[in-house]
Amino acid sequence: MKVAVIGATGLVGTKMLQVLAERNFPVTELIPVASAKSIGKEITFKGKQFKVVSVEDAIKQKPDVALFSAGGSTSLEQAPLFAAAGITVIDNSSAWRMDPTKKLVVPEVNADVLTADDKIIANPNCSTIQMVVALKPLHDAYKIKRVVVSTYQSVTGTGVKAVDQLFNERKGIDGPKVYPYTIDLNVIPQIDVFTENGYTKEEMKMILETKKIMGDDSIKVTATTVRIPVMGGHSESVNIEFLHDFDLSEVRELLAKSPGIVVVDDTANLKYPMPLDAHDKDEVFVGRLRRDESQDNTLNCWIVSDNLRKGAATNAVQIAEYLAANHLIGQAVEV
Ligand SMILES: NC(=O)c1ccc[n+]([C@@H]2O[C@H](COP(=O)([O-])OP(=O)(O)OC[C@H]3O[C@@H](n4cnc5c(N)ncnc54)[C@H](OP(=O)(O)O)[C@@H]3O)[C@@H](O)[C@H]2O)c1
Repeated sequence: MKVAVIGATGLVGTKMLQVLAERNFPVTELIPVASAKSIGKEITFKGKQFKVVSVEDAIKQKPDVALFSAGGSTSLEQAPLFAAAGITVIDNSSAWRMDPTKKLVVPEVNADVLTADDKIIANPNCSTIQMVVALKPLHDAYKIKRVVVSTYQSVTGTGVKAVDQLFNERKGIDGPKVYPYTIDLNVIPQIDVFTENGYTKEEMKMILETKKIMGDDSIKVTATTVRIPVMGGHSESVNIEFLHDFDLSEVRELLAKSPGIVVVDDTANLKYPMPLDAHDKDEVFVGRLRRDESQDNTLNCWIVSDNLRKGAATNAVQIAEYLAANHLIGQAVEV
């Protein structure tokens, strides 16, 4: 299968190449794409060198699938051109997520909505992906009424320049800033821009995308999203109110047997999920499971995942795997 990676020199794009190789996705030809400044640069994939090309050249080479992680404006401009050429786009930006004509997919939750006619498929926001993977089996069992989530998000969620800002600050170098404030030794309660209702766009993404992916508008969600000086992944404190009561040991069992989830919940031995442990793993780690004693039918938990993997690259590659395995793109292949 011919695979184009748009944004191949970025944090998500680099991870995408790593995940494609690790999961042995049947790539017969790789077409790396980046901005004008990177054209001609060499990218290594499975020990071979590939030259970065422009989006125009990539379309001409007719890939079967194009994995986009080059920002919203590039996606808005370029994804329709790929789609018009019959190329299936899986897009990591927020450009298409809430478009009612586009599917927003987390394979563990709603891969079954995909058809061969979906030419632009949206990959959800990283903090939403890890949360819905854990919410889905619980919603199926107890029906979720309301979710209150607070996030502790890694600087890798903002891209290469944010990682540079953190390490420059740590070394005392006065470099370019992508955050409005110092991030090292700090916590910034703002991710993305503020909207008229006082929430940030990141918070609104969590609220709206959760309903769309879960296919249930009745789920109430409220979110506070926060940037912290951490690298390995995003963490979330999640309070979930259900319609029906639950048994805590059954909750643990349900989560443990659900695809993509690892339960790390052994407080007697100080075991709980942390970004250092989630780093470079594909799974969503869930722990600190306990009843909210202030309200009936309500659970508290702590969810951690590597935002560059399950929150971006892995989820996109899993969508491509599903499409390939179900003969919805390119040639029929077994993955
Ligand atoms: N980081 C995360 O956890 C995460 C999670 C989910 C989704 N995303 C989304 O994924 C996208 C990329 O994020 P990132 O963290 O990888 O950012 P990044 O490290 O800044 O990388 C951006 C990539 O886009 C390329 N690019 C920029 N303008 C382009 C253009 N006009 N045409 C072609 N390529 C262009 C860049 O190429 P050059 O190297 O040539 O500049 C680079 O390869 C964003 O839309 C982001 O919202 C990120």
